[in-house]
Amino acid sequence: MRDDAPAWTAGASSFMQSGLVTTIAILTAAGSGTRLGRDIPKALVEIDGVPLVTHAARRLAASGVVDSIVVTCPPGLASVVADVVARDALVGVPVRVVDGGATRQASVAAGLALAGPDDDVVLVHDAARPFASAALVRRVVSAVRDGHRAVVPGVPVVDTIKTVTDADLPPAPAPSGTGAMGAVVAEPVISTPQRAQLRAVQTPQGFDRALLERAHDAAAHRAVDAPATDDAGLVEALGERVVVVAGEDAALKVTTERDLVLATLYARQAEKDPGDGARPVGGAHARSGADR
Ligand code: C5P
Repeated sequence: MRDDAPAWTAGASSFMQSGLVTTIAILTAAGSGTRLGRDIPKALVEIDGVPLVTHAARRLAASGVVDSIVVTCPPGLASVVADVVARDALVGVPVRVVDGGATRQASVAAGLALAGPDDDVVLVHDAARPFASAALVRRVVSAVRDGHRAVVPGVPVVDTIKTVTDADLPPAPAPSGTGAMGAVVAEPVISTPQRAQLRAVQTPQGFDRALLERAHDAAAHRAVDAPATDDAGLVEALGERVVVVAGEDAALKVTTERDLVLATLYARQAEKDPGDGARPVGGAHARSGADR
């Protein structure tokens, strides 16, 4: 499959055609998206009249390497989500909808439970990244098919990142004569990781199905303070290797109204030029971490 294949050529996966194995995509859409401040779940917010979850499903299908999609939806909204995804003419692969859980991790586990015996590769993708391109989907699946059992797309970070503790510092005393400073929250810094080694990771993340199941099983039996925010983290917790491939700007995560505006820009650009915004960013050629 060429990386520059037309964005909307949905079709059966080449792996499926060869009769070998199949790839299932779990499309997580069960979040409430409270930071967006709308009265509907984020996945149903529309850009250009199309819900975010449908935009994401179209691109998964258009990759030509995804054989079926399971969408995790907010409890009670299965029929609404099925209406906008399964009946969309541009989502050319079978779609099932399952109620999500209280956390993203629980939602992914609910989707994973629907994997069939032939699904040996699992993609996990956030509906909150509606414009992750078909080329990115293909890149991740190819890396898994090449033998990397856990693959995440990532881009170099431009900011210097600090690790802080959540221990509260007492407010600094106001310098004499300047009046009260108010209660400024000050977090102690404990380290500054080398920026060149940092990647901001995106979805879709791709996995050998048996490995992802093992990671979720282990996580379900582990007491942790906070649930995992991505699936690769669960694989890392097993001590298994995770690799990063080049991500892209278009795979931006929609969290705030500002992100919606940016995502809309990507959508418009992609209409004009399907490759725009979907250029690989990062990967082995971007080791300096400063060349964006
Ligand atoms: O909350 P956050 O932005 O990290 O969510 C990432 C993705 O996980 C979103 O697509 C959201 O719909 C999904 N999610 C889910 N089930 C939850 C929480 C989030 O499927 N309980």
